[in-house]
Amino acid sequence: MQFRTMKHHEFYERLPKRARYSLSDACGATATLKDILSEKEIAAVASVPLIYGSVEGREDLRAGIYALYQHLYPQLGVENITILSGTEEGLFSIMACILEPGDEVIGMLPCYPSLSDLPACFGGVFKPVKLEYERHWQPSIDDFAAQISERTKAIVINSPHNPTGMLLDQGFLDCLIDLCKQHDLYLISDDVFVFSDFSGVGSQLGILHYEKAVLANVLSKTFGLPGVRIGWVMSRNEELTESIRHLKTYNTICQSQLDEQVACFVMQKAELIIERNNEIVRKNVELFDDFVAISDSFSWHKPEAGMLGLVHSSKALKPLLEAWFEKDVLVLPGELFGIEGNYFRVGFGKKDFSEALARISEA
Ligand SMILES: Cc1ncc(COP(=O)(O)O)c(C=O)c1O
Repeated sequence: MQFRTMKHHEFYERLPKRARYSLSDACGATATLKDILSEKEIAAVASVPLIYGSVEGREDLRAGIYALYQHLYPQLGVENITILSGTEEGLFSIMACILEPGDEVIGMLPCYPSLSDLPACFGGVFKPVKLEYERHWQPSIDDFAAQISERTKAIVINSPHNPTGMLLDQGFLDCLIDLCKQHDLYLISDDVFVFSDFSGVGSQLGILHYEKAVLANVLSKTFGLPGVRIGWVMSRNEELTESIRHLKTYNTICQSQLDEQVACFVMQKAELIIERNNEIVRKNVELFDDFVAISDSFSWHKPEAGMLGLVHSSKALKPLLEAWFEKDVLVLPGELFGIEGNYFRVGFGKKDFSEALARISEA
């Protein structure tokens, strides 16, 4: 097995310096333990025995996570959830457990690089469904159907989408599930932005009634806590769940007990953190929309959910991004996510978004 660096990590490594601001960041407002936990809770974290934990993750943590899904899946429970180190480990584990050499995975492009690159790590092939600006970044069911072959093993989706901000609706998902049923395919849903439902459109969709569906989510994005390496996968498929847990015994064995304790407290105040962080995103999206409206070179499809948007520039991109970098603002080009042309990604989660925007707005 051969792994190559993910394109955007390579890009970060090559930067001459760190920029003060990142206008493309995909995470919610940065927080410290002191920002999110009380003194009593911090003391409780300090008293956690530093032993191995359980492979599947603490039961009370899984119960806290399940509370976010109970309205959608009252018939599921903690046994359907496995805690892993981020969605990254979730996606890796899912693909490792289901793919054989030669298998094909269909997914949208542009996309978060793991989704397109991971299949090749297991001898598989990624088959892209191309998203286009002119179609509001929306794929069609026919686009997916056209990519199916005898070797197709899975369809992978991500909605709200990185990097376009595109949102799939439940009707689309239901048709996609029908397609998966017809061809006996896994449906993998990278759900990292579903709780960033800042305009209340309902970005959390129901897929787990399908036996071969699995979702992955994390504390990194909506909750703004990527340094607490806690993510989860959820599926009603017992065989897949068992296989992922078996893989974990060779891999991380269990989570950091400190991370799990922090995540337990976070889940107790999940609604509050989600609402607070979504308010930041909501304001930043409006600010950016005003910025686009008065610009003569930028256009975009304003996202309704998630934390990201993909913007087109009629001016050449490279000199523009270099000039912004000189102003200490890092902006990522769309090519890192597999799209050609003058596109750049914007992330709306940060509290200092307006400061970064003011810098790039200066003449
Ligand atoms: C769509 C998507 N999936 C997965 C990840 C992986 O992040 P994490 O492992 O923190 O969940 C990211 C990170 O940016 C992402 O944007």
